[in-house]
Formats: sequence, C-alpha cells, structure tokens
Amino acid sequence: MEKLILYGGNRLTGEVSVSGAKNAILPILAATVIGGNESTIFNVPKLRDVEVMEEILIALGCNIKRVDNMMWVDSKPLNQIKIPDELAREMRSSIILMGAMLSRCGEVIISYPGGCEIGPRPIDMHLKALKDLGAEIEESHGFIYSKGKELKGTEIQLDYPSVGATENIILAAIKAKGTTIIRNAAREPEIVDLQNYLNKAGAKINGAGTSIVIIEGVDQLENVTYNTMPDRIVAGTYMIASAITKGEIILKNVIIDHLQGVIAKLKEAGCLIYSDENSLKIIGPEKINSIEMVQTLPYPGFPTDMQAQIMALLSIANGTSIISETVFENRFKHVEELIRMGANIKTFGKVAIIKGVKELTGAKTTAKDLRGGASLVLAGLAAKGKTEIENIYHIKRGYENFHNTLRELGAHIELVK
Ligand code: EPZ
Repeated sequence: MEKLILYGGNRLTGEVSVSGAKNAILPILAATVIGGNESTIFNVPKLRDVEVMEEILIALGCNIKRVDNMMWVDSKPLNQIKIPDELAREMRSSIILMGAMLSRCGEVIISYPGGCEIGPRPIDMHLKALKDLGAEIEESHGFIYSKGKELKGTEIQLDYPSVGATENIILAAIKAKGTTIIRNAAREPEIVDLQNYLNKAGAKINGAGTSIVIIEGVDQLENVTYNTMPDRIVAGTYMIASAITKGEIILKNVIIDHLQGVIAKLKEAGCLIYSDENSLKIIGPEKINSIEMVQTLPYPGFPTDMQAQIMALLSIANGTSIISETVFENRFKHVEELIRMGANIKTFGKVAIIKGVKELTGAKTTAKDLRGGASLVLAGLAAKGKTEIENIYHIKRGYENFHNTLRELGAHIELVK
C-alpha cells in the first residue's frame, strides 16, 4: 500500500499554480449530461474523484476525451439510467447526478450513497426538493429509483444551506416547466461556477452566490467551453504549508475573494499575506499565535474543508486555540493522529481545544479522510524527525501532484509504493 514519508524542519519557499476546483468540476461534469451537448472544460484537475465521475459518465454512454487538464464531454450518446453502483458508492457526491439525469431523461437509478468518514451525510434535503419539483422517488434494497418526465418549477426553502442539495436542485430545474426559486441556498463559489457553466450553455440561472437562486426552465442547452475556477481549499492548504514551516510561498491562479475566511484566520495566527487579484504571497511567522476561536460555517464563513489543516497549524501555536466544527457530525478523525505526533488536543463533541506545543514529533500515522490526511502532511512538514502517512488514497482524491509540489517547494517528502 502506498504511503508518504516526510522528514520535517525544511522551510518551504517558491511558487505554486493552484489547480482547478474539485468541488466545482464535479457538479459541472454532472451537468454535462443534461443537454446531450458537447462540453469542453479547461483547468480540470487530475484527481481520483474526477476520474470516478469520468468513469460514471462513460458508463452512462457519454464520449469523453482528456488531454492534460482539458476534458471534452459529448453526452449525446447517453443511453443508461443506472449509475454504476460501485462508482456511486466510492464518491458520495455522485448523488447530484440525480438532478442532472432527471433533467436529461426523466429517470435515474442510483445506490443510496453511504455515509463517509466525516459523518452520516444524509440526503433528506435532496430527496424532499426533488419531490417538490415533481419527481417520484422510491427507495428499496439500498437503491433510489426516481422518475420525473415533466418536472415543474416551484419554490423550495432549504432547512440548511446544503451545497449538494442546492446543486442537485439547480441541475433538476434546468429544463423544468416554469421557474424554480431556492431559498436559503448555499452560497459557495463552486455554485457560482456551476451557474456560469450552465448559463454559458444557454441555461437561465440567477443568484448563485447568494441565498436566493432562481432558475427559469429552458428547452435545450448548446455546446459550451468553460474554464473551471481555482480550488480555494487546495490554495488554503498550501497557505498553511507556508505558515507551518516559517515559509514564503507565492500562490498563482487564486481568487482572493474566495479565501477571505482563511486569510483572516492566518493573519490572526501571525502570517504576513500580500495579494493582488489573482495571486497571493504568504510568509509564515517565527512563532504562530494561537487563535481564540475558529468556527467552521457555510460560505463565506471559515470553510469546514480547512478545519483539519488549521488544527495542524494551531497544534504548534503559542497558547490555546478553540475549533468549533459546526458543519459535519464527525470531522475530528485527524485528532488522534495529530496526538500521536505530540499535539495536545482535547475534543468535546464538535469542539476541539488545542493547547499549542513547542514542537511536534514525527510518527507513523494514518489518513482517515481527505482533509484529515492533508493535515497530517502539514504536521509532518513541521514535525521533528520522520513521519509516515498510510492510506494516502484519501489525499489523492483532492490534491493533484501534492507530494511533488511540496518537494519542489523544499519539503523532504517521498511517496513509497
Ligand atoms: C460539499 O459536500 C463538499 N463536497 C464538501 O467538501 C464540503 O465539506 C461541504 O460541501 C460543505 O462545504 C463537494 O462539493 C463534492 P452539505 P456536501 O450538503 O454537499 C447535512 C471535501 O473535503 N445535510 O453542504 O455533502 C450534511 O450531513 C468535501 O472536498 C443533511 O443533513 O455538503 C452536513 O452535516 C468534504 N441533509 C451538512 O448538511 C442533506 O440532505 C452540510 O452538508 C444534505 C446535507
């Protein structure tokens, strides 16, 4: 089984160009099935999750070509309604294919997405909203059977600004009869990217990025070319790689607006951050300040996908910090691994108290989920001695070329097969 080996203590310096956003390309790839059209998409990262979505689209009958970070999808030949079970279970966000498939062919069969490492991940809001749009939904033997030949626009009030549910509703409403209004919609930038891709193909969506999204049904979509937004979580992760190693890293291809929550907290931690419209320089401090409170919230609050990474940083801060994880049920699986590296962290439900220690020490650790795995890499960059990280398949789901990029920045890191 592959693992990462790191020897900590090197200061990271240099330049990184941030890849396209995993959480933008996944809903966009789902959206490519709606129109039976051709989509040419640039800035597509090479990640396992993107491969899974690609394999699903091919299994459904689509033609796909991939050259470096460009992907061409022709969904005209789509001729299946069942999402391959093992692929759907490998990536729970495949549930947004429900909305896209209902728009395309009015029918879909998909396995009930399991929970995952960070919590039960229910889909109640997705299913309720699709029913509100007129879809029939049956669940049996672990599968969801849905039919909806003629979806009708309606008003939907989300109980919680769920990213996936907002995306699923948008995808289902694209060709519905009439207008759909989503209230309490998620405001994440990835939803704006989905709106921009679909509107370029002829859809009529307004309001993405705000809590009220309005979709007017259209009859068809045209061929489209699109450039995916940069990954704000990958950018934030490299920012912390600089912060935790007293480094100096320049990030290219970033959208500063997407990073404000992370920038604010890293400035509190003592980092110097300079930015212009699409690049940023971050210098790590000699000593990291503790942060009184980091609370994860829906965008534009501090992102839950950066919680594990900032916890690694705060493990060696001057003083005690508090992290409150308000988005997911069980997103502290990295705590026990950081403790193995000498961190002093206590958790009380969804709150963690991190008492900064002088130095972490390298240890054998195991990645339990995508962002938790990234936090172990960050801790290993600063820890004294050797850190081993197993189950790095988790990390490969969301970080393109991670260890090579870190090595180019000066890290002593290698992948061992
Ligand atoms: C998306 O997941 C992202 N994944 C997650 O990133 C991210 O952490 C999350 O949004 C929050 O920003 C993708 O975009 C592929 P939610 P999603 O629906 O859509 C509960 C990463 O590391 N909920 O906003 O699944 C849910 O259990 C991944 O890249 C319901 O209760 O997130 C959670 O507690 C991890 N019922 C909360 O809402 C529902 O029907 C937020 O979930 C739907 C969600």
